[in-house]
Amino acid sequence: MPLSNRKTLTQYLIEQRRRFPGASGELNALILDVALACKAIARSVAFGALGDPSTRQLAVANGGDDLGGSTNVQGEVQQPLDIVSNEIFIRTTEWSGHLAGMASEEMDAPRQIPATFKRGKYLLVFDPLDGSSNIDVNVSVGSIFSILRAPTDVVDSARDVTEADFLQPGAAQVAAGYAIYGPTAILVLTVGDGVAGFTLDPNLGEFKLTHPDIRVPAETQEFAINTSNSRFWEPPIKRYVDECLAGRTGVRGKDFNMRWIASMVAEAHRILMRGGVFMYPRDTKDPAKPGRLRLLYECNPVGFIMEQAGGRASTGRQPVLGVKPSALHQRIGIVFGSAQEVERIERYHHERMPVEVESPLFATRGLFRD
Ligand code: AHG
Ligand code: MN
Ligand code: MN
Repeated sequence: MPLSNRKTLTQYLIEQRRRFPGASGELNALILDVALACKAIARSVAFGALGDPSTRQLAVANGGDDLGGSTNVQGEVQQPLDIVSNEIFIRTTEWSGHLAGMASEEMDAPRQIPATFKRGKYLLVFDPLDGSSNIDVNVSVGSIFSILRAPTDVVDSARDVTEADFLQPGAAQVAAGYAIYGPTAILVLTVGDGVAGFTLDPNLGEFKLTHPDIRVPAETQEFAINTSNSRFWEPPIKRYVDECLAGRTGVRGKDFNMRWIASMVAEAHRILMRGGVFMYPRDTKDPAKPGRLRLLYECNPVGFIMEQAGGRASTGRQPVLGVKPSALHQRIGIVFGSAQEVERIERYHHERMPVEVESPLFATRGLFRD
């Protein structure tokens, strides 16, 4: 089929909306604004070391500079493009009247919609640039977003949003997606009816439906984990990885490949395309950080996409989407991808910790059965 005959993102969203005859179209409009942000970020990323002349002012005005970055609330180095991407998200979405507020990896507290704009019924949570430490080495990066309903009293009173308004479990997400800026820019989206992928047509600047019903293969022979952390892993993860490494000579009876891009969006995309399992589990490296990835704007959206694609996302102990968040920038252990592998890893956790839930008892070894 020639590319020109493919559905656009707009067409896909309108067709999805027909499932809900009462829908106002606000969610679709918001998703299209987010898609516009992703196109703008794709463009900025493509300038690389040249620097995008159209966004340099944005970076400088927001605390970055042309050469280096600043530091975000989590003490991580912000690349100039982290800051630019954050500003692009804000500017393309805050004016629309669809948002009650937003939150981002790059902002300490929730961002209020300025009084000059109408406030709406959705909350937008995002990681404007995931994997940004890979920018300098020209490896794929991405943006991740999650859309939640604002609590009714926020909508009714149009009051300012608070951190608590965002602390909803992933199961409450209305839509989620990511854009990957690789050899091509691809937007992957779920509005709760499967997962679809759209490739950015560089001629038209439009996202076109190229991956209509993405399904994660249930079985895999590929796993992804940062093995430099292996001495900090908990026993169930050690067991799983050891069994993969033993390959056909071990209990799995087959050889595995390992991958690590250090860009979760890129790992999630590979897994959606050809299966696999990704692990950034809870470990004992830093007791203040039970996991590396952030629940609200990394784990929940990717978890929603995986589940909608027939895969699975888990903390090892419970489904990611069932975790009640306790803080905006909360980190959590995550395992996602091919359902059978994630189930196996969950089983290994449950065999050691039959009654455990995500709790402040983290790292209390007395809970282990053996
Ligand atoms: P971010 O660039 O938004 O801070 O996220 C980076 C994350 C994630 O994309 C990746 O999987 C992980 O950090 C890489 O961690 P290591 O540095 O341990 O490899
Ligand atoms: Mn990230
Ligand atoms: Mn980021």
